[in-house]
Amino acid sequence: MTDFRKSTVYQIYPKSFYDSNGDGLGDLRGIMEKLDYIKELGADYIWMTPFFLSPQKDNGYDVEDYYRIDPRYGTMEDFEELSAEAEKRGIRLMLDMVFNHTSDRHEWFRKALEGDEKYRNFYIWKKGKEPGVPPTNWESKFGGSAWQYVEKFDEYYLHLFDVSQPDLNWDNPQVREEIRKVVRFWMGKGVKGFRFDVINLISKGDFLDDHEGDGRRFYTDGPHIHQYLQELNRETFGKDAEIITVGEMSSTSMENCYQYASEDGKELSMVFSFHHLKVDFMGNEKWVLVPYDFRKLKEILFSWQKGMAEHRAWNAVFWCNHDQPRVVSRFGSEGKYWKESAKMLGTAIHCLRGTPYIYQGEELGMTNPGFTDISQYRDVESLNHFRILQEKGLTEQDAYRILQVHSRDNSRTPMQWTGQANGGFTEGEPWMEVTKNCSYINAEAELADGDSVFRHYQKLVRLRKEYDVISMGDVKPLAEEHPQVFAYERTWKDEELLVVNNFYGRETVWSSGLDTAGFEKLLGNYEDGCPENGTFRLRPFETMVLFRRK
Ligand code: GLC
Repeated sequence: MTDFRKSTVYQIYPKSFYDSNGDGLGDLRGIMEKLDYIKELGADYIWMTPFFLSPQKDNGYDVEDYYRIDPRYGTMEDFEELSAEAEKRGIRLMLDMVFNHTSDRHEWFRKALEGDEKYRNFYIWKKGKEPGVPPTNWESKFGGSAWQYVEKFDEYYLHLFDVSQPDLNWDNPQVREEIRKVVRFWMGKGVKGFRFDVINLISKGDFLDDHEGDGRRFYTDGPHIHQYLQELNRETFGKDAEIITVGEMSSTSMENCYQYASEDGKELSMVFSFHHLKVDFMGNEKWVLVPYDFRKLKEILFSWQKGMAEHRAWNAVFWCNHDQPRVVSRFGSEGKYWKESAKMLGTAIHCLRGTPYIYQGEELGMTNPGFTDISQYRDVESLNHFRILQEKGLTEQDAYRILQVHSRDNSRTPMQWTGQANGGFTEGEPWMEVTKNCSYINAEAELADGDSVFRHYQKLVRLRKEYDVISMGDVKPLAEEHPQVFAYERTWKDEELLVVNNFYGRETVWSSGLDTAGFEKLLGNYEDGCPENGTFRLRPFETMVLFRRK
């Protein structure tokens, strides 16, 4: 069994990874062609975002058929070949299961719309409060009401995401049985990992107006969530000890995560939580421009590290995914210290307790694209909010400034393989523009450079395998009050590790008060430089990982 504490997961957004047939869209065969690259990085698992049959209103998170592969991405034979080729390289596949909702084109929803009672009960229908007024004031995560009126029934259906993504009714045992069938089907194909999309939203509570917000408190970590996860676990993936699972937990609480990701293995192997990635929001409001709050970032990361360890639960640790802007643009620097900051951010997250996830291109230090025209954007959430922001009175220019920072498209631009046309992603017309800096930020250049961001990530992946203190050690926060430094200590048996990061583009000094004698530097982003008598003089975005045996 692969020990997920020593493993690293590499996330692929298939549409933007590599196009093998020149139609401008990435595909499964494209992933196959790049397996050696992932092997070179050292990742153990590949999480692929959904490639099931889908109208692509939300890039595959709107599933029309869980058993079929969207022809845009390839065929079942391609998938089987990919799986076999990955296995030859010791890499396992993790599939992305979207079970909170389906597409409105799914057969179940189509039958529901026809009036078939069995399938109407697969979804959530309510009467309006009065004519023209939805059942509750809940908001869709993509903007607007979370309810859609259907005249034929004089009822509304719930869609926490796009109107084309009706929420499934998990309180219906037939729905849960259908979901189990899907999981078993993919287990039968040899899949050894599952990521469950917004899984903590599946159990809805009271359908009441939310006078304080958008309704999320009524359906987040809902009343039967643990029961439903335990049931799914028991009846499907829990039967195979080799399978690892990760749940995407939207606006969750730590207390719930202790249970979701408990070592007892009754629910999931680990969880994604997002509180540390809201430090540049205003409360829950993402569509604003505020500088990120470094102290809050540290506080949140540390409290999750401590809480989850004390309760013997396991984190997924990450900065990036297909819903987040690029971390080097967000907390690092795109300019003078691009390389230093990309390496520092990687180090800061990879040496924590938890399983690290690398999102395609993060290992190259890919940046936000800086799009300046709405025609360059693709994501439904961005397109909606571009409109909503202007309806609220912002100028078009201000709306662009916000999109440039927060849009999910920031991470969805094609992977930068070479410095050639379209970054070597496709021979055709890419579905989305490639970021201009592919001329120097690209895999080919970084593989040829022993000091690249890629080589740094490769070392991080390797160190986790080599040092038990990284995969298993306890975590102790350090420098908690320091305005620039994010530092922590890890300990395991006789091993000690110090991880020290300067999060800013200016020098700083940290007098740690630690006895730093006898530590050796395992990794850094400047050649020399070690603490003297416990004093760290850190250069812009400097990072260092120090190790000693007691
Ligand atoms: C998750 C996915 C996101 C998707 C949403 C709805 O948050 O990561 O991309 O839009 O769920 O399925």
